[in-house]
Amino acid sequence: VADQAFVTLGTDDVYCQGALVLGQSLRNHMTSRKLAILITPQVSSVMRAVLCSVFDEVIEVDAIDSADSMHLALLERPELGVTFTKLHCWTLTQYSKCVFMDADTLVLCNIDELFEREELSAAPDSGWPDCFNSGVFVFRPSVETYNRLLQFATEHGSFDGGDQGLLNSFFSNWATTDIGKHLPFIYNLSSSAIYTYVPAFKHFGRDAKVVHFLGSAKPWHYKYNPQTRTIMQDGSTSGSQHQFSYLVLWWKIYYASILPLLEKLPEMEDMESQGQKDETTHLISELSTQLKPEEPNAEDERKKWEEGRMDYMGKDAFEHIKKKLDTFLK
Ligand code: UDP
Ligand code: GLC
Ligand code: MN
Repeated sequence: VADQAFVTLGTDDVYCQGALVLGQSLRNHMTSRKLAILITPQVSSVMRAVLCSVFDEVIEVDAIDSADSMHLALLERPELGVTFTKLHCWTLTQYSKCVFMDADTLVLCNIDELFEREELSAAPDSGWPDCFNSGVFVFRPSVETYNRLLQFATEHGSFDGGDQGLLNSFFSNWATTDIGKHLPFIYNLSSSAIYTYVPAFKHFGRDAKVVHFLGSAKPWHYKYNPQTRTIMQDGSTSGSQHQFSYLVLWWKIYYASILPLLEKLPEMEDMESQGQKDETTHLISELSTQLKPEEPNAEDERKKWEEGRMDYMGKDAFEHIKKKLDTFLK
């Protein structure tokens, strides 16, 4: 099925990290479809090289920004004007059918069956279920549709300032016409729905196929401890255990499959310019700030001892304890 693809979008190096995890999760679940990513000129050459090792096609497009600060303020997401760039996905006419997925989504199993659906299929938005969420949708590339969308955007704008408002107005009969175009919510489970309807999540959550980290707190904003395989929780993080388990899954993929690609890249000597070297060093240092192993906190440590949960093989190994005792006995 070489003429069908999963498509995502990354307008900067940060969102591209999300796209890499998404792409890797699709590969881990053996998709038989192609993987394509739309990027904008802002994406660094280092990031492009990494993207090439996960995606079949890395396609540069111009950024389109709604510049609609008024509606974006209502959405409380001033940064999302640039999501109009998503519209470029309709120009990918080398494919007959595609599934678009936001860079902040993660697949939990093979979802190739989505290609049996027609344009425009999508799951309800948890904030307003008569709208579809534009983080996951099935579409048919067509230059004609692309031009009509641009025309529509110029004439009517978007009620939320981003692509979702525009697409819902354009495909306006989604809510009422063809139930076949309503994807089950498990194909776009927004992490916020987990706490807004806990019993439903308890009942249906195990069937989830795609998790969408919708909202301003993205997986890459959290800190992850690779030793304990936990998300570091401080005053600024909130969420249920389930949300954290999806975040941990995101980070496990990032840590196991994406970071090694980034680290392997700088066969620094092979890089042509100093600029490119600096870019790589900068990127890697930015990424590694997210990976701070947790500093042991004295109180937690004591609690662990009192509960009999010592780290016998590591810092509580007998040789370490003996060394400590020796310092007292000297
Ligand atoms: N996006 C991007 N750069 C940006 C903002 C958004 O590339 O600065 C893309 C990215 O694919 C992202 C999608 O547009 O997943 C939609 O934005 P986001 O996921 O942040 O919106 P939310 O789902 O939280 O409403
Ligand atoms: C939504 C969607 C996202 C879209 C944004 C702006 O919340 O999840 O994909 O880009 O709205 O319209
Ligand atoms: Mn999203």
